[in-house]
Amino acid sequence: MADEPSQLSDFDDRFEDPADDPLFSLDEGDPNHTKIFARKELLKVGHVPESARIVGRDSEIEAIAAELRPIVRGDPPNNVMIYGKTGTGKSLVARHVTERARRAAESNGVSVGAVYVDCAQHNTQTRVARTVTRSLNDTARTGFDIPRAGIGSGEYYDYLWEILDTAYDSAIIILDEVDRLDDDDILMQLSRARESGKADCHLGVIAVSNKIEYRDRLNERVKSSLREEEFVFQPYDANQLREIMEHRRDAFYDGVLTGDVVPLTAAVAAQEHGDARKAIEILRHAGELAERESTETVNEEHVRDAQEWAEVDRFEELLRGSTTQVKFILYSLALLTHENPATDGFSTSRIYNRYKQTAQQIGATVLSEHRIYELLKEQAFLGVVESTRTGGGRGQGSYLEHRLIQDTEIVLKSVLRDSQLEDLA
Ligand SMILES: Nc1ncnc2c1ncn2[C@@H]1O[C@H](COP(=O)(O)OP(=O)(O)O)[C@@H](O)[C@H]1O
Ligand SMILES: [Mg+2]
Repeated sequence: MADEPSQLSDFDDRFEDPADDPLFSLDEGDPNHTKIFARKELLKVGHVPESARIVGRDSEIEAIAAELRPIVRGDPPNNVMIYGKTGTGKSLVARHVTERARRAAESNGVSVGAVYVDCAQHNTQTRVARTVTRSLNDTARTGFDIPRAGIGSGEYYDYLWEILDTAYDSAIIILDEVDRLDDDDILMQLSRARESGKADCHLGVIAVSNKIEYRDRLNERVKSSLREEEFVFQPYDANQLREIMEHRRDAFYDGVLTGDVVPLTAAVAAQEHGDARKAIEILRHAGELAERESTETVNEEHVRDAQEWAEVDRFEELLRGSTTQVKFILYSLALLTHENPATDGFSTSRIYNRYKQTAQQIGATVLSEHRIYELLKEQAFLGVVESTRTGGGRGQGSYLEHRLIQDTEIVLKSVLRDSQLEDLA
């Protein structure tokens, strides 16, 4: 029984020609069609820009290249560790330098395998071992396939050493967000591969961490076998962020970005610890807002709105996994803060009263005051709320006062994104 090729539905199309469907119109003569983005992909999160667009990291690129340079002559490279806050160009530089090293080596007759692993996604030893092994394996040269499942890290390593021996002179393995790994044995395995005679191939590891404390957490055994060179990437200042965005200005059509958009975005992101990712995201979102409004240019107002959107997003991320009850509490605290601009901090019972109203209004279960107290303490631990002990004057007990760390506006917007709280809006 052969089925007809499936269609989503048998709707009777009112448009003779599907290209006339106004819902998906590409018609540029359309008065509502505004030309904002010329090459939006330049502003995508995972986009790896070409050399000419990388600015302000020349000395880091040079220094890391020096560690990998021996590869080009067929000698062993040094291992590298890159630390720095988010958005300081670590992933970008690691990939960029690796790719250049690989090409230079290849043109010198040295075959180099290169893999990039995001350990935030592959956070166990088995997953990392599998990703590295499967991406380096070249069936044409090794003659075997690597199973996707059913074997453990030990077996993946056995395959890996064999692949490295048969197919490559050298390999560079980038372990990005290495602090997210649940144990550091993989660093041990990779750094000892050669000395323990497991693989003849020269292996270089570039480990990248957003957390500088990771250095102290690393096991001494790992450190002494990795013997890595360390680099710390400093946050960008407003001028560097500006340069980075200027080099992607062609993501927009000419004349779309009005005068102060780029400097303003740079200033905003510089306050935010100099995060280039944030800068690019805000710029992209400002463009999307302009597009949605069908205006012809992106202005400062769009940037400010985009910044707020980014903050709401980040706060929502922080709240991810929080229960709706926690959101009721934060919502109530935000209302109290909003209604009492002169008050700096609220007692648990005051928050509790407001919370009861909120929960009742929406017909939700009302938790006990003690439970609310515990949840507030949890939020303080997570950095959403700040709790300080006050009072305790003569004859009085001291008590905790809670305040929101984030802007009330941002908290309200994030919390109200939860569909169960929609009725409060
Ligand atoms: N020096 C730079 N020049 C151009 N773009 C950069 C630079 N540094 C970072 N970026 C861009 O900013 C974003 C974040 O950089 P990334 O390397 O992912 O940061 P990190 O890994 O340190 O968190 C990426 O889109 C990247 O292309
Ligand atoms: Mg990164």
